[in-house]
Amino acid sequence: MHLTKEEERMLNGEEGHAVEKSMEILVALGDIYGAEKLINIDSVQVAGVSYHNLGDAGLDQLAKDGKVKVLTTLNPAGMDLENWKKLGISKEFAEKQNLVIEAFRKMGTIISCTCTPYLIGSLPTYGRHIAWSESSAVTFANSVIGAKTNREGGPSALAAAFVGKTPSYGLHLDENRVPDVHVDVTVNSKKISDWGALGWCIGKKAGNKIPYITGVRGACLDELKSFCASVVTYGSKPLFFMKGITPCSEKHQLPKERFTIEDVDIKEAYESINDDVDTIDFVCIGCPHCSINEVAEVARLLKNKRICSSTEFWVATSRLIKQLADKRGFTDTIESSGAKFACDTCLAVAPLKGRFRSVATTSAKGCYYSRHNGMKTRLGSLEECVEAAVKGKWS
Ligand code: F3S
Repeated sequence: MHLTKEEERMLNGEEGHAVEKSMEILVALGDIYGAEKLINIDSVQVAGVSYHNLGDAGLDQLAKDGKVKVLTTLNPAGMDLENWKKLGISKEFAEKQNLVIEAFRKMGTIISCTCTPYLIGSLPTYGRHIAWSESSAVTFANSVIGAKTNREGGPSALAAAFVGKTPSYGLHLDENRVPDVHVDVTVNSKKISDWGALGWCIGKKAGNKIPYITGVRGACLDELKSFCASVVTYGSKPLFFMKGITPCSEKHQLPKERFTIEDVDIKEAYESINDDVDTIDFVCIGCPHCSINEVAEVARLLKNKRICSSTEFWVATSRLIKQLADKRGFTDTIESSGAKFACDTCLAVAPLKGRFRSVATTSAKGCYYSRHNGMKTRLGSLEECVEAAVKGKWS
C-alpha cells in the first residue's frame, strides 16, 4: 500500500504510541485486502465497548497518548452509565465498565453509547467515507444514506479514529457496491417486527450477495433501522439497494439472478425466530436503540398500565433520546408503569446470561442475540410486547 510521507512518519512512531499501533493495524488490513492507499474519513463508530465483551483490553495504554482525529462515537456499553443499579448490574462490573468508558473519554470520543449514532448527530452524507463498526449502523449508513464503510471491528475502527483514515478497499470502492441478486418483495410489512422478519428472509436467501430489493412500498426510519439490523444479522453483507429508498439505486441494472419474498417466507421467519414459550420474564424494546418516535409509542401504550411484577421491561435508547423523553413527559409515563429505561446499553451487550428465561421483543436481531444468552424468544409488534409485559405472558 502506498503511504504518504506523513503516513510513514505516523507508522514510524513520530506521533506517539497509539498512532503507531493504529497505523500498523491499518497497513496490515490494507495489505491483506489489497488496498492501494489510505483515504480520509468523516466519522468513526466504535463497537466492542461493553466490558462484558471487551474484558481488560489494555485501552488505558492507548489512552495515554491517543486522541481521535475525527468525530468518534461509541456503541452501547454493558450497562446504563447512570442507573446501572436499577438494571441489576453488579458494583464489580460497573467499576470495570467505568474504567473502559474513562479510557474512551480520555481519547476524545463522544460517550454516546448507542448503536444509532445517526439519530444523535453523527449523520454522514451520501458518498462520504466513514469507518463504522456495529453491523446495523454500517448497513444503515451504506444502504439508507449511501455513505461508504466496511464493517469494521472495534480495533480497526479505533485505529481509523486515531489516524483519521482507513484503507481503501471493499465497500469504499464503487466497483464493489454493485447488486448481485434481485429480490422482489410481494408482501406488505405492517408491524415493526415484520421488517425484522423480512430481513431474516432476505439475509438467509441472499447470503453473501448484495440484494437489489424491489416491491417495498416505502418505509419509515424505524422500519428501516429494524430491517438493516436483521438483514445483516441473518445474512452477511452490510449493503443492500432498495428501490425508492437507497439514493441513486436506479443507476444499477437489475441483476439477472432473482428470488421473491412472499407471505409464506415471512411465516417461516416467525416460526424460526419464535420459540414455543408463553411465560415472559423480560421484555426489551430498542434493538437498534429506540428513536424518540418509538419511545412516544411505548409511552402511549403503557399509559395507566402496570407491568407484571415478575416481568422486567427495558426501553433501550441513547441518553440523548431519553433527555427528549424526559422533557415530553414520556419518561414519567413509562416509569410509572414499572418499565425502566436502559440508556447506554442493550439486551445483547449487558451481562444478562442466566438472568431471564424468555424475552419478548420487536427485534429479530434482538432474538438472535437473546438466544445466544440462553433465552427463549418471542418476536412481535410493540402492542404484543407491551401486552406480554403487562400479563407476564405471550398471548
Ligand atoms: Fe443495537 Fe444492541 Fe441491537 S447494539 S442493534 S441494541 S443488539
